[in-house]
Amino acid sequence: MFTILVANPKGGAGKSTLTTNLAGMLAALKQRVVIMDLDKQQSATNWLARRPEALPKIMSLTEDTDLSELRAFSPQWMVIDTHARLRRPDRTYLLSRSNVVLVPVNPSVFDIEATAKFLLKLHQDPNVQSGRVSIGLVGSRTDSRTRMAQELASFFQRSGLPVVMFVPDSVVYPQCARDGFSIYDLPRARTEQQLDAWQPLVVWLREQLAKSRQQVKPATDEAVNPPEHGVVPVA
Ligand SMILES: Nc1ncnc2c1ncn2[C@@H]1O[C@H](COP(=O)(O)OP(=O)(O)O)[C@@H](O)[C@H]1O
Ligand SMILES: [Mg+2]
Repeated sequence: MFTILVANPKGGAGKSTLTTNLAGMLAALKQRVVIMDLDKQQSATNWLARRPEALPKIMSLTEDTDLSELRAFSPQWMVIDTHARLRRPDRTYLLSRSNVVLVPVNPSVFDIEATAKFLLKLHQDPNVQSGRVSIGLVGSRTDSRTRMAQELASFFQRSGLPVVMFVPDSVVYPQCARDGFSIYDLPRARTEQQLDAWQPLVVWLREQLAKSRQQVKPATDEAVNPPEHGVVPVA
């Protein structure tokens, strides 16, 4: 299972928006995807509860999830939505279980400052240092005509990390959040610009998936038999 950690130290950075639309994208691509929501606010979980039955299925992984149901679903992808202040023990554990970490950042100086510190912490993690876990930057709510969007882009460039995409500022995202939809569940005519903006994420994830398949996998019992609780191991 390819595991994507979505993290940023600031509330309102776009983590749940990225999580839900990414899960919707994978489901629309006929992938089996599970969301693990670690935020007490439960935005992604509540979004899933509002999601109409007719839309491509996305599974929720919580403490109460019946593991036999999870095994039967056999997810290919897990997207982990996190809370704002992800402290070291949790961060280290989650990074050890993830393939990539996506860091959404708002075009705001406060968010940029907080993210700069967070990226330093990520860099110190052994899984990031070894190159096993890749970091991808995502601009949230960006309007390319604004000065702050340009400052965000130059912050990204200075970081030297891969810039995966810029999500445009659009009313479609709060609307999707309200209705349990992702942009991939709406009529194409309404979301053409958004789908174009998200396409680089599809490409980046394909590359990361190929990279993870090239990495030598240790043959552990855990990979075959998931533990009865906690994060499901990365296959
Ligand atoms: N690209 C966007 N355009 C417009 N509104 C957005 C966009 N991304 C997020 N939002 C809105 O910003 C708010 C915060 O986003 P959210 O994903 O909940 O952040 P986080 O999970 O990091 O706290 C939400 O109300 C969400 O609907
Ligand atoms: Mg959230």
